[in-house]
Amino acid sequence: MKTLVEDTTKNYAPHIIIVGGTSGLGLALALHHQTLGWQVSVVGSSAAKIADINSQHPAIVTYVCDLTEPNQTQTLLDNLSGIPFQRLIYSAGSYTNERIHHLNQADSDQMLAINLQAFEQVFRWASDQLKQQLKQSHQALDLTGSDRTSLICIASIAGTMDYPYASLYAKSKRAMIATASAYRAALAPYNIQVNCIASGYINTQALRDLNDGDASHKPFIMSTQAAVVRIMQTINDDVELAIFPRSMRYITSALNHLPKPVLNWILRSKLDKAR
Ligand SMILES: NC(=O)c1ccc[n+]([C@@H]2O[C@H](COP(=O)([O-])OP(=O)(O)OC[C@H]3O[C@@H](n4cnc5c(N)ncnc54)[C@H](OP(=O)(O)O)[C@@H]3O)[C@@H](O)[C@H]2O)c1
Repeated sequence: MKTLVEDTTKNYAPHIIIVGGTSGLGLALALHHQTLGWQVSVVGSSAAKIADINSQHPAIVTYVCDLTEPNQTQTLLDNLSGIPFQRLIYSAGSYTNERIHHLNQADSDQMLAINLQAFEQVFRWASDQLKQQLKQSHQALDLTGSDRTSLICIASIAGTMDYPYASLYAKSKRAMIATASAYRAALAPYNIQVNCIASGYINTQALRDLNDGDASHKPFIMSTQAAVVRIMQTINDDVELAIFPRSMRYITSALNHLPKPVLNWILRSKLDKAR
């Protein structure tokens, strides 16, 4: 990874756009890239979060956009189109306690729009942008390692399990994992890197809010900083799909080997316990 000193001597500050970068994991990744000398832009829908970032981190460029509105998203992407970037992370996500509370229409619409539809809209735009940028700069094939342009998305370990009783969240993250894999194959000839993150529980404010202020009981929960370290490693090592923490990866991989009806029964009885 480039250091600030290297960037200064090369007079080169790469630009990262983090969609869903106004809180939680996305904001932590934004601040991390800033310490590495990147120029950072973040996108979110909450005016309060944006105002907070503007006052506490004035060097970060902020964009307000409600990703559930395709027209708003398109306007944002049109506005960003003239601005070169080397990395985009899609960290926007919507999740609820779907197993405890019945999934209502509003939550269903929001989850589908943010976790799947806006993700596809943004990735499609971003891949076109990067291809165009590379064509103009003629430098694509010379770039290696952390210099490569990259598209990253934050899915979830929930999306790595294949069973009929999966939640809308798990199904939309599963679709995200498959989409990222297709983009990875499609962008390989352009030397554009695509990585997908399928993590277990991360102790963010959003997760704590869903758990009455304390998510420490969640199995194998990790700190946001530990997740940032794993994600940066994934990007540097160009891992297609990073599933962590290891303990959760072993469990989900073992579960995936069970016959589907057994897996369905186990998850149904486990997930519905809190009802
Ligand atoms: N925390 C975990 O345990 C965990 C585990 C696995 C995967 N993940 C995934 O990690 C990602 C980040 O989660 P987090 O825990 O850090 O949650 P978070 O703090 O709520 O972050 C979600 C981000 O998405 C943005 N966002 C949500 N709705 C939006 C909308 N309609 N328009 C524009 N932006 C929107 C939020 O900004 P605004 O509020 O400003 O709109 C925020 O920046 C999510 O994709 C989540 O599914 C989380």
